[in-house]
Amino acid sequence: MQLLIFGKSGQVASELCLQAQAAGYDFVALSRDDVDVCDGDAIKAAIASNPCDAVINATAYTNVDGAESEQDLANVINADAPYIMAQAAAQKQVPFLHISTDYVFRGNGDKSWNINDPIDPPNHYGVSKATGERFITSTEGRNIIMRTSWVFSSHGKNFVKTVLRIARVNDALNIVGDQIGGPTSAVDIASALLNIAKQEYEKTYQTGTQIIHYAGVPCVSWAEFAREIVKKAGIEVVIHAIPTTDYPTPAARPLNSRLDSSHLAPLYGLSAPDWRIALDDCLKRIKANDTA
Ligand SMILES: NC(=O)c1ccc[n+]([C@@H]2O[C@H](COP(=O)([O-])OP(=O)(O)OC[C@H]3O[C@@H](n4cnc5c(N)ncnc54)[C@H](OP(=O)(O)O)[C@@H]3O)[C@@H](O)[C@H]2O)c1
Repeated sequence: MQLLIFGKSGQVASELCLQAQAAGYDFVALSRDDVDVCDGDAIKAAIASNPCDAVINATAYTNVDGAESEQDLANVINADAPYIMAQAAAQKQVPFLHISTDYVFRGNGDKSWNINDPIDPPNHYGVSKATGERFITSTEGRNIIMRTSWVFSSHGKNFVKTVLRIARVNDALNIVGDQIGGPTSAVDIASALLNIAKQEYEKTYQTGTQIIHYAGVPCVSWAEFAREIVKKAGIEVVIHAIPTTDYPTPAARPLNSRLDSSHLAPLYGLSAPDWRIALDDCLKRIKANDTA
């Protein structure tokens, strides 16, 4: 299987490269220097010129607060770019795999969001990702849109690394305790994407968009997640759970980010990954690389 991956250095992109290499797939991963996804012609040329059986988009504008003031840039990267990728992949008749977010949902209530629930983003990052979903769905190709949440890994910027850093130099931390979601390891996301790409490659090409939810279980609050991180890392620190209202941010955050992944097994034989197992592996890697 030959893969064309947009993104090389991000949390998920790095894991895709490592795992694609380990699996012996032929793949090309494009960094920002290779293709700036703000350049639609460069995207089209990359898809036209690279032989591939699937296109995976691991690029995104992921600065949730920054997206409030950089709305146009977020729209280009999170909506226009994947639209062009989906169109070019459709022309080539190869599946297009894209990653979206829990932030497309409003975040009210306490029930897990189903793939068919109406989307209603609470912030501009979510709006740009939701527009991307809508654009992709409007194309004539085979598209898989994976919504995930609270991504962590041993590289890049993420909650696990931030908690480790601040926990080492403080006796107590205030962490939001009323936003609930599923922490998800970039390792697990990459593994699921490669698995799905292979399944799509092995079956007859059929147009249509499949949305899936792939998020870690069990659902927890950020404060509970932080407690588990410091406990596993052996750091003595008290974690106080605070309400979202005590931690104002430019972009509103959904309180309920629970994603229902029950459709994964019948569709792709996958299940929601246990983030506690992935966290052990992530902490080991951080320790080995001293990348916290
Ligand atoms: N992070 C989360 O908590 C979270 C939660 C839910 C969903 N998601 C979704 O999961 C996916 C992967 O997220 P991630 O955490 O792996 O993101 P990430 O670590 O922020 O990586 C984003 C990647 O996009 C690349 N990129 C950004 N702008 C670009 C441009 N103009 N041209 C080319 N490349 C560009 C970055 O390249 P540079 O390294 O050169 O900047 C980087 O490789 C995204 O679709 C995101 O929306 C993430």
